[in-house]
Amino acid sequence: MLDEFIRLILLILPAYAANAAPVVLGGRFPIDGGMRAWDKRPIFGSSKTWLGLLGGMAAGLLAAALEAHMLRGTAYDLWAGRPEWYAGMGLALSAGALAGDLAGSFIKRRLGLPAGRPSWLLDQLPFVLAALLAAWLAGASFAFSPMPLIFLLALTIVLHRAANAFAHASGLKKVPW
Ligand code: CTP
Ligand code: MG
Repeated sequence: MLDEFIRLILLILPAYAANAAPVVLGGRFPIDGGMRAWDKRPIFGSSKTWLGLLGGMAAGLLAAALEAHMLRGTAYDLWAGRPEWYAGMGLALSAGALAGDLAGSFIKRRLGLPAGRPSWLLDQLPFVLAALLAAWLAGASFAFSPMPLIFLLALTIVLHRAANAFAHASGLKKVPW
């Protein structure tokens, strides 16, 4: 079970990278171009930008490549050293994380929450759930056993809160969530 949990964390790391990088690399060229949805509220809001998507994809792919290199030949060589798998999984996990994050913001806007306002769970979970789904669709073999998955989600909430508090304290982010 510990082993499964470690594998799950290693699997999700590129998604974490893709979710965190936009804070530093993004912030310009809003995806919705300022457009509003049927409820007259922003589609995604000014915080979701093309630069963020680009930076997130780059960071996620880099993380997957680093993992491929560092885990090669170890017991945690998730994809048995097949580099094309790491690239594919890096793509799936990054795209999944960024799409999930976008979906989270979309829902927040529909709930009437302006960009940057906190939302318990919608801020922390959509990216990781969508990344897992994308990796699974892309053929990643991981066990869907409940305990490691629950631990991963709990860990993600804690890490997300801590990382955002840190990003705020160090002046990278306007709000601490
Ligand atoms: N960011 C970006 N592009 C993305 C995602 C994030 O440029 N696709 C950047 C933005 O500068 C954003 C920061 O990363 O302010 C933090 O992202 P996040 O916490 O997801 O945005 P919030 O400002 O909290 O907006 P929301 O209410 O939509 O979650
Ligand atoms: Mg947020």
